[in-house]
Amino acid sequence: MPISPYVLLPRVPLGRNTPLGQDGPVPEGGGDTPPPVTGGSGLLAVPFGADLAPEVALPVPAAALLAHYEAKGEAGEIVEVPVADGETVGRVLLYGIGDGGAAALRRAGAAVARRGKGRDAIRIVLPEGPVAALVEGALLATYTFRIGEARSTPAVRVEFVGEGVAAEVARGETVASAVAFARDLANTPSSVKTPAWLADRAVEHVLDGGNGRTRARVRGEDELRAGGFGGILAVGRGSVSPPRLIELSYTPEGATRHVVLVGKGITYDTGGLSLKPTENMKFMKTDMAGGAAVIAVIGALARLNVPVRVTGLIAAAENAFSGTAQRPSDVITQYGGRTVEVLNTDAEGRLVMADALAYADAELDPDVVVDIATLTGAIGIALGKGLGAVFASDDALAAELSRAGESSGDRLWRMPLVEDYVPALESGVADLANIESGSTYGAGSITAALFLREFTGGRPWAHLDIAGVGRSTADEGVVSKGATGYGVRLLLEWLSDGTGHPV
Ligand code: BES
Ligand code: MN
Ligand code: ZN
Repeated sequence: MPISPYVLLPRVPLGRNTPLGQDGPVPEGGGDTPPPVTGGSGLLAVPFGADLAPEVALPVPAAALLAHYEAKGEAGEIVEVPVADGETVGRVLLYGIGDGGAAALRRAGAAVARRGKGRDAIRIVLPEGPVAALVEGALLATYTFRIGEARSTPAVRVEFVGEGVAAEVARGETVASAVAFARDLANTPSSVKTPAWLADRAVEHVLDGGNGRTRARVRGEDELRAGGFGGILAVGRGSVSPPRLIELSYTPEGATRHVVLVGKGITYDTGGLSLKPTENMKFMKTDMAGGAAVIAVIGALARLNVPVRVTGLIAAAENAFSGTAQRPSDVITQYGGRTVEVLNTDAEGRLVMADALAYADAELDPDVVVDIATLTGAIGIALGKGLGAVFASDDALAAELSRAGESSGDRLWRMPLVEDYVPALESGVADLANIESGSTYGAGSITAALFLREFTGGRPWAHLDIAGVGRSTADEGVVSKGATGYGVRLLLEWLSDGTGHPV
């Protein structure tokens, strides 16, 4: 008996995804016939308990089947069932959705999509209700990156079917597409990814699909010099590829609040003259993951109709090892005039971030500032790969971000800004030192956060240290090996929950 390329279709087909990293039209409403799955093999996935008759002829009733396999309906649980499809044999995946919450739906979507790997397409029948998380999970799990392709192509084409879920499918697709874009940027090798290249991609990305509501401005070396951005220039001076400050803005009509997002955009971090050992250095092409998240978020705001004005600042530089590089013991002048003694050139992230934070405070008048950076290896040791860190000057802001972390799947843990550690950043020759002297406390992530706080002008501010969660070593759930795109889902959730984020 030949294997059916496809199992009979449910009656109310709806949407299909475009390849990740691309945006395409999302079908409005139900009723379209989805395009046939051409060639090769297709797969149909249906939630436990959904009424399969008469589309699919199960060998025994679904309830009996599930009992036979002792299926509990947990999220991520899948029962594969061979079904008769005319003259052929097809296969249906019955999948569990656990408690039906966002985390469970995301896990279910990812598990189903991973079963489709190696096939041409998988058609997922959605359960009822808010299912954006399932769509998002399925699409994120199909992410693959291959150098040479302009944009990543999904491991399997995913189609979604369901009644009254158009808006949910569209949201899931937009969010997953934004995460994929951030992953693409961070996975791109640094031989390609110069600060100028990153700026070009950022401008292109946010203007495309911004609906006239997004703008971009890129400062090159001359402008950085004229503006006094001494931190970005000092870090970038060792590289043949000069630094950039990328400023992206999204201004919806009637916005009353202004959020500034600042992203670390180190396109490669050798450590500078404080050179990293190879074992640590080889991961450093993703040291712009925070900046990538900011670019991807700004690019998605217009599509999601977010009601908040948002400015993104990406401080982009390559921290290279060369004869023109800054030296340990150099003193630099940050944006705004504060001097910093550079005791370790590998603590470069805070130098570029400080300029952007000080600029945001002096020129952009934000209500809230959130920065996101692969800032310290120490945070990966403290929290591992499952949780990002949030440091915040404001309890309400920390709580909002933590909540958005839980519901978006980009989980956060709050870390303390320990006042007793502030004197460790004192310098004998400048206003501040860029690392604690004498390793007084050894809490590298905390002192890094305290350094950044010096440049926030006392505004409501949160710092996300994503050095642990920015990269993954394995394909697992919604995450693929390499860059994770951490922070995109978190920030989009936080910005679009409609509260306006009073702090
Ligand atoms: N980019 C690194 C932090 C990092 C480490 C990111 C591991 C991802 C994985 C950062 O610029 C850095 O080098 N930090 C130093 C700070 C130290 C010199 C105070 C570190 O963590 O060792
Ligand atoms: Mn470094
Ligand atoms: Zn770095």
